[in-house]
Order: sequence, then structure tokens, then C-alpha cells
Amino acid sequence: MRRLRVLVLMDEAFVPPESIEGVSDEEMLEWKTEYDVLTTLQEMGHDAKPLGVSDDLGVIRDALLSWKPNITFNLLEEFHGVPVFDAHVVSYLELMKQPYTGCNPRGLMLAHDKALSKKILAYHRIPTPKFIVYPRGRRVHKPARLKFPLLVKSVIEEASLGISDRSLVENEKQLKDRVEYVHNEINTDALVEEYIKGREFYVGVLGNQRLQTLPVWELVFKNLPPDKPNIATAKVKWDFETQKKLGIETHQARDLEPAEVASIGRLCKRIYRALSLSGYARMDLRRTESGQVYVLEANPNPNLSYGEDFAESAHAAGIPYDRLLQRILNLGLRYKGYV
Ligand SMILES: Nc1ncnc2c1ncn2[C@@H]1O[C@H](COP(=O)(O)OP(=O)(O)O)[C@@H](O)[C@H]1O
Ligand SMILES: [Mg+2]
Repeated sequence: MRRLRVLVLMDEAFVPPESIEGVSDEEMLEWKTEYDVLTTLQEMGHDAKPLGVSDDLGVIRDALLSWKPNITFNLLEEFHGVPVFDAHVVSYLELMKQPYTGCNPRGLMLAHDKALSKKILAYHRIPTPKFIVYPRGRRVHKPARLKFPLLVKSVIEEASLGISDRSLVENEKQLKDRVEYVHNEINTDALVEEYIKGREFYVGVLGNQRLQTLPVWELVFKNLPPDKPNIATAKVKWDFETQKKLGIETHQARDLEPAEVASIGRLCKRIYRALSLSGYARMDLRRTESGQVYVLEANPNPNLSYGEDFAESAHAAGIPYDRLLQRILNLGLRYKGYV
């Protein structure tokens, strides 16, 4: 394995400390991905260096010109505090002819706009819940084509920001309140979808042209009260107490016929290609009791923490964490964009 100079781009706020002695799991959660990727690359023998970025491309330019990394490992999730601006930073890397890991700017732009990606998926006849967008500043009228219950979320936010049990609405009053919440508290347009009742699956995809899908992973609630929906709310994703209370586990989906696993894999590859993704991604899916599979969203550059769904499912496919990071580096080095 060639020793690489790897510049690890990360949000300035998430640059991990030199030592993690005395740091609690809760404190670590914020920058765990950055820590895991950086230290693992170093343990693998790469010369990996973190670079914190917030709202200045100048620091990236300086690091590229002075240090001349072989590749940039992109862990940025926003620029200037705006999640969809990560695509522009990757565009800048392309302008600098700098190889990078993960998704290309076009894929990031298409997939991060959930409404736009659903329109593209619809063209390809890929099942996704029926939806309507309520732009900020527009009155919330009754959605004529959609049937309650509905799920209200931000059209661009990630990581379940703004998702709670109240995101699931049963009537017009609840709908209006929740859309206003997304407009006023999350400060984005609202995406309202038909609620898909069923099991929740996550499927990792790796590749540029030739794609590999990872095993189907499932989010399981072992102690879900009967009146509570199995939604991956912000608390379910990030709050240890809630996870304990609801018995949250993720593991390989059980009792799926091999034919169904294969068909889900093909579906995920079609999604990946339809949205021009590259590098690595994770698809969020739901499967109804009758076996219909819907895509909720495609996540380019998904959470890469050690022990998280993407890395765990890779491990189950025989790709341990260090080899996964090396695969991601290799895909970045081999990716041919416009040059
Ligand atoms: N149409 C839907 N039907 C059922 N559950 C949904 C739907 N949309 C979102 N959810 C639930 O909300 C969670 C977060 O939604 P998602 O679109 O994946 O946003 P995020 O980018 O925040 O992960 C999903 O993992 C799922 O549990
Ligand atoms: Mg999601």
C-alpha cells in the first residue's frame, strides 16, 4: 500500500482534540467520525492531517498549495453553516484539480435536495413516497393529492434534524403546525410525504462505475410502545437515553429472502446512478408489510464513524474499517470527473 498524504477536511468545530483521555461518549459524539477517520488513516501508515474549515476557502487553498496532498478526505457537512454548500467546496477541489474522497458536486447537489431527487427518481420509476413542498412564506393549504398520515421534514436538512414524533401528522391542523415549525425553527422549506408504515432499512453502496452494495441493515426498536411510530427521530439517532429506553438496535435485516436482498441491492444501484453519485453512499428505505420498498432519501458521504451502520454493514460484508477507508481513498484517486 502506497503511503499517501491525506488532507482530512472537516468542520472547524469538529476537529478532534489531540488526546481523548477523560472525554465522555456524549462529548465524543460530535467529532467521533473525524477522530475515527483521522486516527485510523494514521494507524494505517498514511500521513493524514486534519484541516478545520468553516467559511473560508483560503485555508483549503493554502493547504493544497503548501502541503500538496495526494488526496483530500472530505468529511465536511456544511460551509458557512449551510449544509448544501458542501457541494460547492467539492467543486472548488475540482477547480484545483485535487482528488477527493466521496461524492462529486453534481451528486451532492441532486441528493441533498430531497424534492429534486424525488423528481428524478420518479422519472426512473423508482418508488418514493408521494410528496408536496411547502416553500417558506407560502400559505399551508390542504394537500389534495396526499392521504394522511403524512410525514413533515426539511427539504434539505440531514441527520434527523427537525424530526420528532410530531413530524408524523394525522390532520390539517397538525400539518400546518409542523410545516410552520420547519419554516420557522429549521428555516428551510418543508417536504411533506405520505407516511410509509413498515420496516426501516439502510443500504450502503460503494463505487464509481462498478458498484457494490453492502448487506441490508435494519433499524430495530425492541421496546417500542404500541402507540409510538418507529421513526428515526433526532433523539433515536443521537440520544443515548432514548436509545436505551426504546431498545434501539441496528443489525443486518433478518428473514429476507436472498431474492429480495438482491432486488433491494439492484434498486439501490439504480438510485445511485440516477442521482449521479460516486464514492460511497447510504440509501434510507422503508419496506411495507406487503413487501413494497420505497426510498426515503439517498445520503452521499454518509456517517463514516467506526461502529455506525455504514461501517458495520461493510464489516459484515468482509470489509473491516481500515480496508473500507482504503477503498474510499482508492475510489477518490480513481474518480474521473470532468478532467
Ligand atoms: N415518508 C416517510 N415515511 C415513513 N417514515 C419516514 C418518511 N420520511 C422520513 N421518515 C422517518 O424519518 C427519518 C428521517 O428522514 P430522512 O428523510 O431519512 O431524513 P434525514 O436526512 O434527517 O435522515 C427516517 O429515517 C424515517 O424513520
Ligand atoms: Mg435519513
